[in-house]
Amino acid sequence: MQVSIVGATGYTGAELVKILLHHPRVDIECITSQSFAGKRIREVYPHLDTELVCQKLDLNRISLESEVVFVALPHSVSMNTVGELCSRGKRVLDLSADFRLTDPCLYEKWYGTSHTQKELLKEAVYGLPEVHGDRIRGASLVANPGCYSTSAILALAPLLENRLIEEEEIIIDAKSGVSGAGRGLTLDTHYPEINESLHPYAVNSHRHIPEIEHEIGRIRGKRIDVTFVPHLVPLNRGIISTCYARLKNFSQATDILNVYRNFYQGMPFVEILPAGEFPRIKDVVYSNRCRIGIATKEATRRIIVVSSLDNLLKGASGQAIQNMNLMLGLDESTGLK
Ligand SMILES: NC(=O)c1ccc[n+]([C@@H]2O[C@H](COP(=O)([O-])OP(=O)(O)OC[C@H]3O[C@@H](n4cnc5c(N)ncnc54)[C@H](OP(=O)(O)O)[C@@H]3O)[C@@H](O)[C@H]2O)c1
Repeated sequence: MQVSIVGATGYTGAELVKILLHHPRVDIECITSQSFAGKRIREVYPHLDTELVCQKLDLNRISLESEVVFVALPHSVSMNTVGELCSRGKRVLDLSADFRLTDPCLYEKWYGTSHTQKELLKEAVYGLPEVHGDRIRGASLVANPGCYSTSAILALAPLLENRLIEEEEIIIDAKSGVSGAGRGLTLDTHYPEINESLHPYAVNSHRHIPEIEHEIGRIRGKRIDVTFVPHLVPLNRGIISTCYARLKNFSQATDILNVYRNFYQGMPFVEILPAGEFPRIKDVVYSNRCRIGIATKEATRRIIVVSSLDNLLKGASGQAIQNMNLMLGLDESTGLK
């Protein structure tokens, strides 16, 4: 199976190249870049052991030679490329946010630009395998989830599916390493600005809010609003999300680990930790795993769920390859372990 990667020189694109080079069932046909066209990718990322050369984006060539295309471009840039590829019958995995929200008005409100591929929004499947595995298997367009969204939804889905919490009291306090912002240079991500510091940003305005609300609302079958506060921490990669909610009935707390274990049974990339243990970023980076730890407090009926993952893998490229495996009828962990 031939695959191509559009935007291969970004952080997520490079992770796709790294994993797909060793994937037993696919070959990389074409990698694209605007800024580095004509250069070998290993001149950009010397750790990538390949002679692959970055090409200018040529949709005709990619469509002729590849069956599956990963699009790792910035949001708003991605949608037209995805639209072209879908119209030529390609199976597409979009890592941007352009196809995650099914309502074009919501997209316009949060991303400040109108959606040019409204019809395709109906076809796109939200690429969270642990929740939408069956739909992903038959999908031709997968909207790969955001990194914070993946960690928050995986932490909350079992509680919502089993109707265990009061939905109006959900708080998500999340921290991310700086690669979450991509490779582009900005003052906010400049080394002296973030080193030896930690700060919240986009409080109540982060673009993953509508995505999280949309997905957990879909699980529960009703509109849910969350409080979401992301923080930037001086790490290269990794996310930790601490989610707070109130249990409807504290007596259910004793069985809570089993609720999570049952929900994620047979799912290779979510690990529920024993009581009293909590995940650390250093234990998930460079893996496609999400590790989850849980605590409860009777006096306040509070449940605290901590989930951690690598933003570039389970939060982006690893998850995209997990989705591709499902689309191709392969074991979902092929090439990822
Ligand atoms: N970083 C994360 O942790 C993460 C997690 C989940 C999802 N995502 C999403 O995945 C996508 C890629 O993220 P990233 O972190 O890899 O970004 P990045 O490091 O900034 O890379 C973006 C890529 O797109 C190309 N590009 C930039 N502007 C372009 C334009 N106007 N037209 C065509 N190509 C353009 C860039 O390279 P050239 O200049 O070489 O073409 C580069 O290959 C984004 O939509 C992001 O939101 C990122």
